[in-house]
Amino acid sequence: MATILRKWSYQYQWLYDAIAQLSALAVGGESRFRQLALKGLSLNENTQILDLCCGAGQTTQFLVKYSDRVTGLDASPLALKRAKKRVPKAEYIEGLAEELPFSDSSYDLVQTSVALHEMKPEQLTQILQEVYRVLKPKGTFACIDLHQPHNPLFVPGLSLFMTLFETETAWQFVETNLPEKLRSIDFQTCQKTLHAGGSLQVIQAQK
Ligand SMILES: C[S@@+](CC[C@H](N)C(=O)[O-])C[C@H]1O[C@@H](n2cnc3c(N)ncnc32)[C@H](O)[C@@H]1O
Repeated sequence: MATILRKWSYQYQWLYDAIAQLSALAVGGESRFRQLALKGLSLNENTQILDLCCGAGQTTQFLVKYSDRVTGLDASPLALKRAKKRVPKAEYIEGLAEELPFSDSSYDLVQTSVALHEMKPEQLTQILQEVYRVLKPKGTFACIDLHQPHNPLFVPGLSLFMTLFETETAWQFVETNLPEKLRSIDFQTCQKTLHAGGSLQVIQAQK
């Protein structure tokens, strides 16, 4: 599955950003999209934040407005190079989300935006276990990602997007019950809110 557009969107940053901006119109624009998962969280300049799978810093650029202690992690050196250029204020580490190079209880907040749908099911479980491990007690995991729409008007748009840009992991992901998975990993509370006709889910879970 997926098409050459997927490769191009990672190759050409302007294409990725244009698609993100267009998709974000469904929730009122990119600024709102990037901060939806942070809604209601109490953040300050000392909050230790990990932007997991930070890509080229698309959400990192908003996180640094809340805290001086933001770290972006990604597996792609090219993405990190772009992130450093876009958001020099954050720190960056190249690494795998399923083997986080951090000690236990390091972060107050781990946030990840539109990345988990790229993970295979067993990889997703490992990543969520790692998120739990590196969070401080009562720390928060905040995530925004794809979801099966409840509004039929959004079904063709999401299907087209996934056909053009995604692989089979995205189709598996939208069938996954993320809150159930998080509870099985021992997260204490988990709130899920839906946006854009249900085609986007925001999760906030507490360790
Ligand atoms: C769709 S992009 C999302 C980027 C960014 N968070 C955003 O909101 O646009 C997914 C990112 O996850 C990264 N990634 C994929 N698998 C990874 C893994 N196992 N560990 C760390 N990063 C990974 C990719 O390199 C890519 O930058």
